[in-house]
Amino acid sequence: MLNIDLSEKVIVVTGGGTGLGKAMAERFIACGARVAICGRRQAVLEETATQLGPNVRPYICDVRDWEAVSAFLSRVIADFGRLDAVVNNAAGNFLAASETLSSRAFRAVVDIVLVGTFHLSRWAGAYWIENKIPGHILNIVTTYTETGCAFVMPSAAAKAGVQAMTLSLAYEWASYGIRVNAIAPGPFPTEGAWSRLMPGENFEAAYLHRLPTRRYGRPEELSALAAFLLSDLAPYITGAVIPIDGAERLQGGMFNYLCQLYDREKLKEIFAEMKEKIKR
Ligand code: HXC
Ligand code: NAP
Repeated sequence: MLNIDLSEKVIVVTGGGTGLGKAMAERFIACGARVAICGRRQAVLEETATQLGPNVRPYICDVRDWEAVSAFLSRVIADFGRLDAVVNNAAGNFLAASETLSSRAFRAVVDIVLVGTFHLSRWAGAYWIENKIPGHILNIVTTYTETGCAFVMPSAAAKAGVQAMTLSLAYEWASYGIRVNAIAPGPFPTEGAWSRLMPGENFEAAYLHRLPTRRYGRPEELSALAAFLLSDLAPYITGAVIPIDGAERLQGGMFNYLCQLYDREKLKEIFAEMKEKIKR
């Protein structure tokens, strides 16, 4: 049995007060790490820190603001004495028809996702290079970085940028011992995502039916992958973008839609009839 050991490590999780960021913070602590979580809402962060215990500290930091990020990471190093990994998890997203988006709306998402990820990566990378520390950046992207996605275009564009940043920095900083990876989640029902992206119950039922596993991801499944990637079990994994989506992203396969039309026994009947016809 493999034990994921993160003891000694100090890990920053942006957006760690809620949803998947909170689940990752909880897992990292369970594996022995100390964790700094950041976000814009003090009450949310403090409540999470209280729930997760003394090995988590909350910090107010808006990742869009370079000066704030610089002050935040300096503070983390002063408070914990080290910095080993940054998880760029903070994000913004909403459903909108692209032709209605204002410039500010587009930038609201891109500034959090793409510029925010640059800010933390740039600061931590320079710190690790200067101090000869083998740090790790883990970016949370999405599966639609590969396909684009209707009605969430700013998020798709920003996350695709983060994916390109992941691959670029993985190569550029490999010689410093810095690893840079990404996790691409499929659907995980969090309050933050579902309140903005799930239009209603009817939509949700249809959406669930479309998933090949007929279920959503569970936060503990994602946090286990994140902990593994940050651990010393994965020293040769860098420049990887790992989907965790129960194969949701593969729905474009030409005949995959048959899975949604009929149950498997009915499909087998149909295929057998077709075989008979072809024989004749
Ligand atoms: C159109 C919108 C909008 C909406 C805001 N705007 N919401 N436009 N539709 N639903 C516009 C505003 O009108 C304004 O433009 C501009 O965006 C900035 O709005 P603010 O409210 O001032 O922005 P801000 O306070 O910075 O908030 C950012 C946010 C918000 C992204 C809009 O939703 C947020 O804080 N989100 C953080 C958490 C989050 O989004 N979590 C979900 C991640 S889930 P104008 O021109 O009017 O001034 C995820 C999952 C992906 O990423 C995959 C799922 C399967
Ligand atoms: P969430 O709970 O809404 O998480 C987003 C977090 O980002 C919040 O804690 C938010 O806190 C923080 N944040 C937003 N803007 C910020 C800023 N400017 N500075 C600092 N923090 C900021 O949603 P989630 O579902 O857990 O999403 C977590 C990550 O998974 C995101 O990267 C998302 O794109 C990705 N993802 C999620 C899904 C899914 O199905 N849930 C699928 C694919 C990818 P404040 O508002 O307090 O700042």
